[in-house]
Amino acid sequence: MEKQNKTKMSSILRIFFLILGASTCSQSLASDHAPRTDEYPCDVTSDYVRGGKYVDCAARGLTSLEPNWFPETATTLSLDHNMLHNLVSGCFIHLSELQVLTISDSQVTTIHEDALRGLGKLKELNLENNKIYTSRLPSTIFSHIPYLENLYLKGNTWENEGTLEYPFSSSVPFSDLSHLTRLSIDEASEIIYFGQPFSKLKNLTYLYVYCPHYVVKGSNRSFEGLRNVALRELVLGGTGQEGHFETGILANVQNLDILRIHHVAIGNQNIMKCLWPFENKRMVLIDISHVFLRHHRATPTGTCNDGLMTKESLKHLSNICLSQLIWDNSKVVGIEPMALSAKPNLRRCLRSLQFTRNLMGEMDPWRSFYLELIRFESIEEIQYAGYEWCGPGYDFKFRNDHNVRKSGYETIHSFNTKSTSTAQTHALPHYSNSKNGNEREKLTTPSENSSSYETPSIRIPRESERTRFVLRFPKHLQSFIIVGFSGYFELSAWHIRDAQNVKEIRFVSCHWIEWSGPVSGLENVTLLDFTRSHVTSRPNFVPLQHFPNLETLVLNAMRESDFIDQLLKESWLQKTSRLQHIDLRDNHLHKLPRYVFSSNLIMNAVRLSGNRLTSLGFDLSPTPSLSVLDLRKNVISSLDLAARTALDTHAQRKPDFSLLLEGNPVYCMCSRIPFLVWLHTTWVRLDMSGNYSCIDDRGQDRWTADLVTTKALWRRCVGKMALLVSLCLALSLIVGFLAVYMWRRFRTAVGAFFLNILAPGFK
Ligand SMILES: *[C@@H]1O[C@H](CO)[C@@H](O)[C@H](O)[C@H]1NC(C)=O
Ligand SMILES: *[C@@H]1O[C@H](CO)[C@@H](O)[C@H](O)[C@H]1NC(C)=O
Ligand SMILES: *[C@@H]1O[C@H](CO)[C@@H](O)[C@H](O)[C@H]1NC(C)=O
Ligand SMILES: *[C@@H]1O[C@H](CO)[C@@H](O)[C@H](O)[C@H]1NC(C)=O
Ligand SMILES: *[C@@H]1O[C@H](CO)[C@@H](O)[C@H](O)[C@H]1NC(C)=O
Repeated sequence: MEKQNKTKMSSILRIFFLILGASTCSQSLASDHAPRTDEYPCDVTSDYVRGGKYVDCAARGLTSLEPNWFPETATTLSLDHNMLHNLVSGCFIHLSELQVLTISDSQVTTIHEDALRGLGKLKELNLENNKIYTSRLPSTIFSHIPYLENLYLKGNTWENEGTLEYPFSSSVPFSDLSHLTRLSIDEASEIIYFGQPFSKLKNLTYLYVYCPHYVVKGSNRSFEGLRNVALRELVLGGTGQEGHFETGILANVQNLDILRIHHVAIGNQNIMKCLWPFENKRMVLIDISHVFLRHHRATPTGTCNDGLMTKESLKHLSNICLSQLIWDNSKVVGIEPMALSAKPNLRRCLRSLQFTRNLMGEMDPWRSFYLELIRFESIEEIQYAGYEWCGPGYDFKFRNDHNVRKSGYETIHSFNTKSTSTAQTHALPHYSNSKNGNEREKLTTPSENSSSYETPSIRIPRESERTRFVLRFPKHLQSFIIVGFSGYFELSAWHIRDAQNVKEIRFVSCHWIEWSGPVSGLENVTLLDFTRSHVTSRPNFVPLQHFPNLETLVLNAMRESDFIDQLLKESWLQKTSRLQHIDLRDNHLHKLPRYVFSSNLIMNAVRLSGNRLTSLGFDLSPTPSLSVLDLRKNVISSLDLAARTALDTHAQRKPDFSLLLEGNPVYCMCSRIPFLVWLHTTWVRLDMSGNYSCIDDRGQDRWTADLVTTKALWRRCVGKMALLVSLCLALSLIVGFLAVYMWRRFRTAVGAFFLNILAPGFK
């Protein structure tokens, strides 16, 4: 009885709140926008992370909210990409379980001070990219959500306060949120300033500062309020505007693990000078991108001076025990030899170096940079990419090779070793075949009198000179990635030492690699990638012979077809019996040799899309574990009986086998009926569920999976045949009857007639 009362009571209460909420919500909005008529515009699913309901109202075109759209058990509510304008009071009052509320990109301008009432358990609030004057928000708003941990406010409107000398803004509306750990916010004025109010945010570990003004200035006092805050990650992001930092700017945040500076044109030299507080400290990541000088400071000399990194400019950076350095798109024109590795701290700690899209590729492709790599004792990953040779927006995360896009790079630079004089061969003086086994010591001597602007050259003795070239890799190196190298590079008769950990080697969009001699010492490499590179080899030499552990070979959109032609003709793949994935997409291949994969027993995926293949072409029987065969965008109009049988047989052995055929010019014609029927009946898993567009004999577009099409076609084709056959049968029957009748009726006359013909004169 009591229980019943209780539930009744709570439901009454709930209804009361709903009505209250609804009336306030629609009341205050009625003047602005009519509420949507849709009853429940949101999707409600399980929130697997937080245990309640996930309510998704993103991009529904909402202009107002109704409380009854959101179930009480909601733990996550997304209202991103709507047109809400005002957040009025009472809309979320019943959502006492809600932990995450995101309202980004929703044109919100005002938030009622009771709007967040009831959200006592809220941990994350995202209001990014609206039109809120964040510094004018009343602090009562945040008093309703005292346990908030993540608050994202950047991309909102700032007050136009001009260039205040020191904007001692005392009011920070969320300074009482003692649990706050992550914060993103716009800088309210041109001078970055985080003062006293922020000192209360003791648990703040992540701070994203977005600078929307025309100028960015950083002073020694910029982060004075964060001196006793446990900040670990600081991100400074802008819109590419000019700026300048005083060199003591980071002194108050010297316990950072991660520092990121993006799209702020303060220049490389300025940033390098600010890094002194981290000297002799351990850091995880420094990530610098798009910091080159702009506007009037970006004169050719200005850019050049800013991009030339000397020992002096790198003295702070090289003295940090840093694990990962990303230096991207910042017009670094040269690094003084041995400057990056000058001090033991960076040399000892650096594990990953991503030096991408700077200007060094043009001027100094190898010398100062590559010679130094050996000196980094812990380095595991090196990514080096030339300047925007891969087109803008290139994705440098190579984990997924589908990310690799087409190159826009056309220019040809070629530095031919054959024409280089011996005077220039000091480029790689240390990688010699010296017998004293003392290469390491020698490597520490910087190349003398070399300037970063000399013509780059690499001279590697060719086999005719009977020298076996010994190259040493850093001991822990696992992955070596070069993108957009524009010179000539000859790989011949090399032995690589200390490469036992190297697993991944990629030369992407590189201009000319001549692979003319055996490279040994890389036996543990599992992935080789020459996407969009120009690679040549010489006849009867098998480059892959020393790669017995190769699992993935990516030869996608190669600039010259010779390398692949040779690979197929000369059966290079017989040397790589562990191969599991091969990518030969976009190579104009017409045909594959029948036994191309006969030695690759564990082959798993064969990618051949974007070629000119007309049929399956190769034997499937030696590759019992093949699970993906990608033949998309070829010119296959149908598969013949042998291919279909082979595929069916394979699918019986390997039930999860998939065949991808989309984008082929399939014909829905009488002669292709067996193939179309096969598409409907096979056990092979097909992409598009076997529904491909095809052209029928009347030139109409059809879909192969449409039973109606196939049936009609069948009827038409098979029907024609049947008609012909029955006509023939009927005709012969009639003739037969006629003959018998004639015989019966005119037996004697006919007999006499034939006798007459056969034996004239016989009577
Ligand atoms: C701050 O962080 C520490 C350690 O993570 C935690 O024990 C403490 O409760 C946090 N303080 C607040 C107010 O959240
Ligand atoms: C800022 O700090 C740096 C390093 O401590 C110091 O050299 C510089 O003079 C300071 N600048 C100003 C304007 O105080
Ligand atoms: C470097 O160049 C200077 C001037 O050109 C010359 O005097 C000096 O001997 C050179 N040093 C070496 C090691 O070649
Ligand atoms: C390959 O790796 C194994 C195990 O790590 C190691 O013993 C072997 O020496 C490596 N081979 C080469 C050629 O580096
Ligand atoms: C095949 O795809 C087309 C276009 O997407 C679609 O209109 C058609 O209904 C599909 N047929 C079947 C049977 O799924």
